[in-house]
Amino acid sequence: MLASKFIETEHYSRINVRQLTNLMMLEHLDKFEGGLIIETGSLRPECQIDTDGGSTLVWDFVLNEKPNYRALSIDIRPEPGEHVKKNCKHVQPICSDSITYLNSLTEEDVKDLRLLYLDSFDWSQEIHMQSAFHHMCELAALWRILPSGCMIVVDDRHTEEMGKHFLVDQFFQRLKVEPIFKSYQIGWIKP
Ligand SMILES: C[S@@+](CC[C@H](N)C(=O)[O-])C[C@H]1O[C@@H](n2cnc3c(N)ncnc32)[C@H](O)[C@@H]1O
Repeated sequence: MLASKFIETEHYSRINVRQLTNLMMLEHLDKFEGGLIIETGSLRPECQIDTDGGSTLVWDFVLNEKPNYRALSIDIRPEPGEHVKKNCKHVQPICSDSITYLNSLTEEDVKDLRLLYLDSFDWSQEIHMQSAFHHMCELAALWRILPSGCMIVVDDRHTEEMGKHFLVDQFFQRLKVEPIFKSYQIGWIKP
């Protein structure tokens, strides 16, 4: 069981506000034999697991436990990709602008996508809308070809209205799709 094994790791003890929602993502991934995980924004050399979350290491943990999973981690800078290569055994780094890369994927590429994890454009109060818009564009680049049942998660939800999730949340509200969890991270399942 992914979640119960993850609870025993040092990583879990360090992710504070993300603990419960990370377990919910793992429980979701555990429902499948395998598939694809895509994240935007990779483990960076300056990563503090306590504040960043170290999500790429979590996907590497999943791939170690369930070899039928694959994970792509997209970052616009080469340094995080190099850091992923050094610190992850299984996750494949992609050096690209996330929106450009996601927009290049086909329905066939994402037919087994189980989790889309959006965490690229750093958020601060001054650039709130730029960050929220970037993550909305990431979702828009894939939305129509995302398979039903795929989980979409946005990191760094500071308040209901402040954080990377803001416009993605507005989009789901329009579609009347309720989040399945909502704390520092927010997640939905594509109907
Ligand atoms: C918050 S960090 C990712 C942290 C990582 N998910 C973790 O939990 O450890 C954000 C990363 O997104 C990258 N980034 C910023 N703009 C981007 C873009 N347009 N496309 C892809 N990556 C981008 C940055 O280079 C940075 O490394």
